[in-house]
Amino acid sequence: MNSGGAASQHRRQSRRPCFPYLSLILSFAVLVATVNGGEFTDSSSIISRFQQYLKINTAHPEPNYHKAADFIVSAANSLSLESQILEFAKGKPLVLLKWAGSDPTLPSVLLNSHTDVVPAEQEKWAHAPFDAHLDPSSGHIYARGSQDMKCVGLQYLEAIGKLQISGYRPIRTVYLSFVPDEEIGGHDGAEKFADSEVFKKMNVGIVLDEGLPSPTDNYRLFYAEKCPWWLVIKATGAPGHGAKLYDNTAMENLLKSIESVRRFRAAQFDLVKSGLKAEGEVISVNMVFLKAGTPSPTGFVMNLQPSEALAGFDIRVPPTADSASLERRIAEEWAPASRNMTFELGQFKQKVSVFDEFGKPILTSSDSSNPWWKLLEKAIRDANGKPGKPEIFPASTDARYFRERGLPAIGFSPMSNTPILLHDHNEFLNKDEYLKGIDIYESVIKAYASYADHQKDEASRDEL
Ligand SMILES: *[C@@H]1O[C@H](CO)[C@@H](O)[C@H](O)[C@H]1NC(C)=O
Ligand SMILES: [Zn+2]
Repeated sequence: MNSGGAASQHRRQSRRPCFPYLSLILSFAVLVATVNGGEFTDSSSIISRFQQYLKINTAHPEPNYHKAADFIVSAANSLSLESQILEFAKGKPLVLLKWAGSDPTLPSVLLNSHTDVVPAEQEKWAHAPFDAHLDPSSGHIYARGSQDMKCVGLQYLEAIGKLQISGYRPIRTVYLSFVPDEEIGGHDGAEKFADSEVFKKMNVGIVLDEGLPSPTDNYRLFYAEKCPWWLVIKATGAPGHGAKLYDNTAMENLLKSIESVRRFRAAQFDLVKSGLKAEGEVISVNMVFLKAGTPSPTGFVMNLQPSEALAGFDIRVPPTADSASLERRIAEEWAPASRNMTFELGQFKQKVSVFDEFGKPILTSSDSSNPWWKLLEKAIRDANGKPGKPEIFPASTDARYFRERGLPAIGFSPMSNTPILLHDHNEFLNKDEYLKGIDIYESVIKAYASYADHQKDEASRDEL
């Protein structure tokens, strides 16, 4: 649909070793192992590569995407991965890497990560957000993007490096996408990518994307995410003197709605407080603005009841919720025409559908119908990690653009025993946790790229 946006595409061939006849005999992986295996797996070089990536300032509003892309491409070259830069929007490169599998008929594995980060308030950080300072006593690496999600992008690459050195060769093709703009909605990044011809040709069977850190020793796994609905309700009524008592003023009508919204919010929140539901499983509603009143030079006119009043709500709907009943509730209770109210939902404000393009709830099955889920859990355990139970991500990620197309996508960032500091001051990741995450991905990528059950694969795609 949006493939017209693919303004410039060029392909760079990966650097080849300069011993042509040798490389015919030896696989490149073996060559890498012989030539610089030691240097590659050395944990201090791994950490310093992570720091280099973190130091590239890709914060909005002016992310240095080209520097990040150059960094990724040169890392890919040293692993002899094929690389390609796609530019669906000018100045916003998406780096696509390919590790070719021995059986190109099998659907591929896509490892996605975004290269952009949110801005940081430098003065509120103990260490500058783009210095990637490694605290020698704690081992924490402080940087914007250390959790969200430069860690994951580079861990994928490091894991592939280790697999190559071990002599492993994938059966399924593994792709890595380093996408721009996730933090501002992903419209010029993952959204256009998932809609592109390039993507179609990749024949993706499973996507891994970002998750969240866990303060316990579990790794968190996400099968869906809440869909944002940004609702603005507006009440109108006859204006009047501030001293007069009369029915059906705009303010009174809006307040009735706000009371109703608050009751709903409290009921949802009670389910979480009582432990009956996880936060990801309930509908959250938060009022984010109130707009009413007649301005005066010193504030507001106090003796006039206004004819209009508006309120805005950030609503997050899990795809497992009954969205049709929520829509009815909005139309009948929160903004009923009978109370002279109107609402905007989806036309001017964001409303992300809870359904994929086939009309099914936009989620990835985590039961036995999805072999990728079991494989992931097992691969995590094999690397001495503990998978948590399937969760719904509380906010939005690029994974939705893949799930929209009916593809299974699992949110997973291997960070256990780590406080959640995404978008926060002093975001950090411990270096040992980072290194452990590489081992986890080594196990996961190997399990995914070796999985060769044609039938099950097709069945799971139909199922999803
Ligand atoms: C709606 O607006 C009309 C026209 O101003 C008014 O007559 C009526 O009383 C209002 N009804 C409510 C419930 O506010
Ligand atoms: Zn992120």
